[in-house]
Amino acid sequence: MNVKHIILLLVVMVSVLAGGCKYDWILPEEVPVIDPEVPISFTQEILPIFSEKNCTACHDGSPAPDLSEANAYASINSASYINRTTPEESVIYTEPHPDGEHTVKYSAAQAALILAWIEQGAENN
Ligand code: HEC
Repeated sequence: MNVKHIILLLVVMVSVLAGGCKYDWILPEEVPVIDPEVPISFTQEILPIFSEKNCTACHDGSPAPDLSEANAYASINSASYINRTTPEESVIYTEPHPDGEHTVKYSAAQAALILAWIEQGAENN
C-alpha cells in the first residue's frame, strides 16, 4: 500500500463514519427519555394530553371514560382503565396507543408519558 492508497482508505472510512452519524438524525419520532424519579403530574402533564387530542369531543360523559377536566381522574381511576400491577396493560394506555386501532391515538411521546405516570402509581397529583 502506498501513500495514495492509505489516503483513499482514510477518506472512505471517514465518509462511512460521517454517513453513519448523519443517519442518526433522520430516525423516526424521538421518544424523550423519562426519568422515573421525577414525578409526572396528572393535572399538568396527563390532562393536557386529553384536551390536546380533543378526546372530550367524544368522551364527555358517554362513551366512558369521561375525560373532561373535572371528571377524568375519577373516571379512569379504576381497574377497568388503570392496571397498577401491569401498567402496560392499562386500557387508558393501550386503547389509544399509537399502534392501536382507536380513532384518536396518542403520539409515541404521549403514550410513554401515560405509561410512566401509571408506573409511578397513577396519582391524582
Ligand atoms: C371520535 C370519537 C372519539 C374520540 C375523539 C376518542 N374516542 Fe375513545 N372511544 C370512542 C368510542 C365510541 C369508544 C367505545 C367503543 C370502543 O370500545 O371502541 C371509545 C373507547 C375508548 C376507551 C376504552 C373504553 C372502555 O371502557 O373499554 C378508552 C380508554 C378511550 N376511548 C380513550 C380515549 C382517549 C384517551 C382519547 C383521546 C386521545 C379518545 N378516546 C378519543 C370514541 C372516541
